[in-house]
Amino acid sequence: MEPTASVSLDFLGDLRRTHRCGELRPDHVGQNALLMGWVHRRRDLGGLIFIHLRDREGITQVVFNPEVDPAAHARAEQLRSEYVVAVEGPVVRRDADTINPNLATGEVEISARKLHVLNVSQTPPFPLEEDPSVGEEIRLKHRYVDLRRPQMQRNLILRHRVSFAVRESLNKLGFLEIETPFMTRSTPEGARDFLVPSRIQAGNFYALPQSPQLFKQLLMVAGYDRYFQIVRCFRDEDLRADRQPEFTQVDLEMSFVTEDDVLGALEAMTVETVAAAGHPAPKAPFQRLPYRDAIVQYGSDKPDLRLPPLTTVNDLFPDLDGGLPLVAVRIPKAGQLSRKEREQFRPFGMERGIKIFDDPKGLEKKFPEAMAALKERAGLEEDDLLLLATLAEKPKTPKPEEQTYKAVGALRLEAGRVFRDKHNLLDPNDLRFLWVTEFPMFEWDEEESRWMAAHHPFTSPVQEDMDKLESAPHECRSRAYDLVLNGVELGSGSIRIHRRDIQSRIFQALGFSEEDAKHRFGFFLDALEYGTPPHGGFAIGLDRYVMLLAGESSIRDVIAFPKTAKGTDLMCEAPNTVPNRQLAELGIALRRTT
Ligand code: AMO
Repeated sequence: MEPTASVSLDFLGDLRRTHRCGELRPDHVGQNALLMGWVHRRRDLGGLIFIHLRDREGITQVVFNPEVDPAAHARAEQLRSEYVVAVEGPVVRRDADTINPNLATGEVEISARKLHVLNVSQTPPFPLEEDPSVGEEIRLKHRYVDLRRPQMQRNLILRHRVSFAVRESLNKLGFLEIETPFMTRSTPEGARDFLVPSRIQAGNFYALPQSPQLFKQLLMVAGYDRYFQIVRCFRDEDLRADRQPEFTQVDLEMSFVTEDDVLGALEAMTVETVAAAGHPAPKAPFQRLPYRDAIVQYGSDKPDLRLPPLTTVNDLFPDLDGGLPLVAVRIPKAGQLSRKEREQFRPFGMERGIKIFDDPKGLEKKFPEAMAALKERAGLEEDDLLLLATLAEKPKTPKPEEQTYKAVGALRLEAGRVFRDKHNLLDPNDLRFLWVTEFPMFEWDEEESRWMAAHHPFTSPVQEDMDKLESAPHECRSRAYDLVLNGVELGSGSIRIHRRDIQSRIFQALGFSEEDAKHRFGFFLDALEYGTPPHGGFAIGLDRYVMLLAGESSIRDVIAFPKTAKGTDLMCEAPNTVPNRQLAELGIALRRTT
């Protein structure tokens, strides 16, 4: 630890900044500037002391010259990293050979006449560099230091810009921002709820909302027509790089609409927010792909359009047809596989039971005509990589074909990742938006041995599939849609059920008795009987959206105070235990489980 006690500190008093640390340019030369910020770096070159002074806006170099101002120079000797200072002096042009092209302010510097030390700092636990080369744990523990790093400041400033543009854009489209409760009723369906015990009604619990789904539908019943909210949601689920227990949605709902209206409003908002984030505005309308086609063409319900689609070729290779789809993966400009690369794919395929034909020369010899036809169909060009793949064994699931496409879809992405750096694939600045529509209405839940709502139980079925609700639920399509960006599910929504009779049929199909349904969602079912307009809506995961716009690969890097994969806040050490007295007030006693 640095000895800090010997440094005498100055008061802020009447001192006020004239400029920010990213602001000064040659135009300012000759002006007197007063900057405040943190000592980013200090170099003592014997005679001269240089500091890089940093604030949110950037960095300015300050020079302390004993011949110009011996007192300021003497004080500068005491400066250490992250001390908080105010510096006054004229802006001077740097000599041509000392211009720093890496700084926006690099053509000028401040020749210090006065130095005010406003506060000292312990030595930071890691350097505040672009790449701090330390584990994420230590960054999260000292998040207030980590958040000073330029990367994090860029990300949070970007997040602000995106949120602001969302509000502006939705306001223009006639949406009203209305808050909904955080302490609400547990309606088990989907992920687990976080519970909040009630003291006044001991033994009873509120739940934190997994999303404001029911409230926003109730606002439609109440006639608010267009609602939105940038809102925190809470889900007790297993965490990954793109999941947090509390996360933020841009949540919206609209009345008297069909899919085209909801998707249109979201496209308008997306185009404006992408532009506000400094990217070229995407072209709307975005491509739409029904779920079934997404699976056959990309082996995924969240296709990454930066790689070419799959090509099904069973008809060309009857000798290789094992009763499952035989699918070609094309990776542009990746060339033929080296032995090392081939060895990289093998374990990936083996783990997932994928059979890969990765020897195009052998195939060419054996099936020259089929290979020529395949090249034509897949649009194969010189230097493209081609892999033929299928599942080695027929899976015993209800949808073996879908499973085959999904496995080959995963292989396609893996191939894209392997060649990403070598061939500039999957460029994060290439933003490819896509709608996936007509999701299945139900998914079979093995554990509970019942159909579950694939989206949520308030999603409307496709009109033509209504008569299959009872007879063939697996064939029933829903009016749910997802927005996908570069292989990430950015958001989901649907046209809702607005009629009580149809809602009852869905609950029946889900295996709820009328009584069950009333117990869980009674207030909502009652509301449906008071003149509910046709309506639909959507929610974008704001953290994921900003992550992609920032070119990051973890949502933790765009959240000021995130939790670890274990749901821990390492800085304030939450969750933590509470005194028994506090538990007793809530009527709670802990039971030892080990
Ligand atoms: P859904 O559950 O699909 O839909 O959520 C919408 C979007 O929210 C984001 N998201 C998450 N982001 C970070 N961490 C999480 N744990 C997490 N879970 C979800 C995703 C996802 O696409 N009420 C419906 C929407 C509607 O029908 O209007 C809903 O919540 O980006």
